[in-house]
Amino acid sequence: MFPDNPLLLFLVLLFSAATTVSLHVRDNNDSVPYYTLEEHWFSPSLAHYFAGNPLNVLLGASALAPILREVGPSRLASMDANNIRIQIISHTPLPEAMFAANLTALANDELAAAIAASPAPRRFRGFCILPMAVPAAAAAELRRCIKKHGFVGALVDAHLSNGSFYDGPAYDPLWAEAVQLNVPIYLHPTYPDLADVVAVGKGLYAPSVEGEYSGYHAAALGMPAWGWHERAGLGFLRLYLGGVFERFPALQVILGHMGELVPYFLSRTDHYLSVNRTLRFKDVYTRNVYITTSGIFSLDPMATVLRTTDHKRIMYSVDWPFSRNEDGAAFMQALRESGMVTEEEFRDIAFRNVERLVGL
Ligand SMILES: *[C@@H]1O[C@H](CO)[C@@H](O)[C@H](O)[C@H]1NC(C)=O
Ligand SMILES: *[C@@H]1O[C@H](CO)[C@@H](O)[C@H](O)[C@H]1NC(C)=O
Ligand SMILES: *[C@@H]1O[C@H](CO)[C@@H](O)[C@H](O)[C@H]1NC(C)=O
Ligand SMILES: *[C@@H]1O[C@H](CO)[C@@H](O)[C@H](O)[C@H]1NC(C)=O
Repeated sequence: MFPDNPLLLFLVLLFSAATTVSLHVRDNNDSVPYYTLEEHWFSPSLAHYFAGNPLNVLLGASALAPILREVGPSRLASMDANNIRIQIISHTPLPEAMFAANLTALANDELAAAIAASPAPRRFRGFCILPMAVPAAAAAELRRCIKKHGFVGALVDAHLSNGSFYDGPAYDPLWAEAVQLNVPIYLHPTYPDLADVVAVGKGLYAPSVEGEYSGYHAAALGMPAWGWHERAGLGFLRLYLGGVFERFPALQVILGHMGELVPYFLSRTDHYLSVNRTLRFKDVYTRNVYITTSGIFSLDPMATVLRTTDHKRIMYSVDWPFSRNEDGAAFMQALRESGMVTEEEFRDIAFRNVERLVGL
């Protein structure tokens, strides 16, 4: 059933990640289009960073490079087949670019050009990436991309590759800019430290005993099975503790992957973190956070998200091409038939919430 080669095995697992829904997709229902917003792309000029990243090699993700670069017929064919009318595209995590404003500017300009040159530019929008290690430059790049390219927000690595988060006051100019421009910031998982994955017996995610599949298991633990999501959720909790939402009550943050574990822990996190703070954690969760379904197509976490989150703040997304549009469509069909949402709520989740959030 499963391939023997660990990299191949990993690719198979990556493509079927968290897909517990096995219903087959019925006819597309054209009256309810899907808009998706964690959909990826990679700058052709910076492709060597993707190919050269040892964690992508461990993940087997390097094989996706040609698909990632394209904003044309094959992306559109998959969108058409799976009822996706609009994709908001963004660059996949690029830790090096977080420290280099010239790289983020290049990537953002190329994304705008790729959308403009595509056969159906109106079916795409852009989220920019920002040089998060240099807060003033990140704020300036956000403004430039919104004003010059008409991008509708930013999607950034949830932390820097040296482990730093964005909770200090140095980031206030960026949050102020996002509020002033009225655009959301998507906190996206990014790579763990390589040593945490490959240092057998020592690395945070590496097993203590080397085995045939230990490289694969460490990469999975550090990335899609746990690490990516736990770190991205932590990035958001730290913004709360840093008082960011007290200083910027209108700031809107998007968390993918069913909320990066935050909804599941909401009552406990609120209980412990809200002690002696002006703003309760739960209130920030209610007013400042949007959740997407990217990459997790299971009704179990969705049930938690629906119980913890205003349905006006839940949005369908796929995480293409790391997850399949087909699996997302099957999930949406299962959700619609599950009785967990009304038809109106389904439409909000399918496209209306994102339409309202970014003004499509
Ligand atoms: C398509 O949407 C309409 C309007 O909500 C609904 O009545 C119909 O049952 C849907 N069809 C399918 C196949 O889901
Ligand atoms: C970006 O700037 C760095 C440092 O100034 C330089 O070494 C690098 O070549 C530049 N890269 C590009 C693509 O412009
Ligand atoms: C990580 O890099 C940022 C930006 O250069 C720097 O401000 C921060 O102190 C660094 N953090 C650590 C833990 O080295
Ligand atoms: C919260 O504030 C009260 C009043 O200042 C203080 O008595 C209490 O110890 C504080 N709680 C914690 C966990 O610090």
